[in-house]
Amino acid sequence: MCGIVGYIGPKPALEPLLTGLGRLEYRGYDSAGVALVTERGLSISRSVGPVGKLRRRVEPSALGDDARATCGIAHTRWATHGAPSERNAHPHTDATGRIALVHNGIIENHRSIRQYLAKQGVTFVSETDTEALAQLIGFLYEDGAGTGPDALLVAVCGALREVQGTFGIAVACVDTPGRLIAARRGSPLLVGIGDGEHLIASDGAAIVEHTSRVVYLHDNEVVTVDGGGLGASTIDAVPLRKKVERLELSLEQIERGGYPHYMLKEIHEQPDALRNTLRGRIDPAGAAVNLGGLERVDCSPADLRRVVIAGCGTAWHAAMVGKYLIEEIARVPTDVEYSSELRYRNAIVEDGTVALFISQSGETADTIAAMNEMRAKGAAVLGVVNVVGSTLARETQAGVYLHAGPEIGVASTKAFTAQVAVLALISVRLGRRRHLSAERCAELLQGLRSSPRAIESVLRLDGAIRELVSRHIDRQNWLYLGRGVNFPVALEGALKLKELSYIHAEGMPAAEMKHGPLALIDRGMPVVFVAPRDRTTDKVIANIEEVRSRGGHVIAIATEGDHELASAADEAVFVPPVLPALSPLVTTVPLQLIAYHAAVLRGHDVDRPRNLAKSVTVE
Ligand code: F6R
Repeated sequence: MCGIVGYIGPKPALEPLLTGLGRLEYRGYDSAGVALVTERGLSISRSVGPVGKLRRRVEPSALGDDARATCGIAHTRWATHGAPSERNAHPHTDATGRIALVHNGIIENHRSIRQYLAKQGVTFVSETDTEALAQLIGFLYEDGAGTGPDALLVAVCGALREVQGTFGIAVACVDTPGRLIAARRGSPLLVGIGDGEHLIASDGAAIVEHTSRVVYLHDNEVVTVDGGGLGASTIDAVPLRKKVERLELSLEQIERGGYPHYMLKEIHEQPDALRNTLRGRIDPAGAAVNLGGLERVDCSPADLRRVVIAGCGTAWHAAMVGKYLIEEIARVPTDVEYSSELRYRNAIVEDGTVALFISQSGETADTIAAMNEMRAKGAAVLGVVNVVGSTLARETQAGVYLHAGPEIGVASTKAFTAQVAVLALISVRLGRRRHLSAERCAELLQGLRSSPRAIESVLRLDGAIRELVSRHIDRQNWLYLGRGVNFPVALEGALKLKELSYIHAEGMPAAEMKHGPLALIDRGMPVVFVAPRDRTTDKVIANIEEVRSRGGHVIAIATEGDHELASAADEAVFVPPVLPALSPLVTTVPLQLIAYHAAVLRGHDVDRPRNLAKSVTVE
């Protein structure tokens, strides 16, 4: 969701603010804005569209002396309340125009705050929930909620105590030009400590070129940064000492490195990402899995009765693969839940339940809420997370990092394959302490080790896949079918195609098709069968015949050398032979490339698909 940057230090703030916003654009890109604290008051510029448009608007020649301001806040928006427009773009101000605020999250009680303030004579200029908070802070400030240098801090905390919902905020005020205030509840926020300067950001990517020393804010914490350094307290004014941590991110990791799009870079990074995921986790003798992060879990494998895996979108598809793996390899009953359903359902948690929460960002609001709910009910809660230091990573009892590196393209790619690999490691680790034989364990771990090379060989098909897609680019409906562990891969292929190319696509178990969806098939409709050779291949070939005899055009993702299956289809993309249980690691990759090329051929913005944002930090 939205991205926030703040800068205070010796340099002009504009450039770090705009560069930081550019790096956060994946969090939202429908409008952007910046507020600089200048000698003559706040200088605020906003524009609809991506950060590039804002940058053109705030050329130093247009801003004049204001461009030299050394303190400011900025925002890139993913609209929740109020359409993307200049009026609704952040920063928002109070009624006097002396306080500016940028916000990520949702102020749930914004209506009642508005009504209260309207009765006091406050006029609102936008339709946003954020303006309610900006106006409330201004109202309390003017009302003399506090005096002296901390008057604004007192007003900010007073307002935040009234707020229901989530926020990551940065606040600037013309009366305290050398000071910024930041606070969080439910939306990520950190402060970078540079050389005589401080940066506030909703994500380390915005500040990595300035410093790697950071302070992470926890819920209901507020910090002030100024020439004297950083002061922290809770919003109830309890003083805090914050730990300075190291930001695990480098600039090279978040640049495009010669690729036209982040998504293509991230698809091609998968072999190395997987090597990093597996590094140090497979015992050199190849017969055991080391996952240090899980050692702290109370529930021993012998007591383990049930696993629940929850996530959203692509992470939910990885969870589905995880169910097949954990049940088959470790023989533990496993349920998969949408985080958004789990959090509101009265889920039954019995002794011996371990809940795994899967998230690339570690900031998905529904997944965090589901984790809190399961913990409250007594489950052991574990995270499978990519972003180091993210909320989910910090608030679960234990967990496993993906180590896939930063994923910037809005569509998740390398995080999915890394999630599948981690779930395979967890399955083997659990299995080995229960029923899994040493031979099967060694076979699976060897299969995992060779998966990066198998993916490399699929990536060499990039050009051929582009050709294939170009032949079907005018088709508006696609189906993706798979069986067993490749059923979730079919779901993932369909999700990738629809979110990037805006082509309608559905994924389903191959055998379900004849229970209704077969009626959709018409002449030339592309139907992708994710069908690496396994014990269901005969059945899949029968399903292929059913589609072709109704005019559907079958594209098979088949195992190299499987001529029987390939000749049943209209065309085939061959992937190297891998163990059936691990096949999602390779079968997903051609589907990612299909979606990527479809979006490029249709002229869409691959890294910033319409209406979406990278991490969904609102409900
Ligand atoms: C789709 C996609 C989303 C995310 C989902 C969960 O390509 O990226 O479906 O998988 O929003 O995000 P995380 O993994 O950050 O919790």
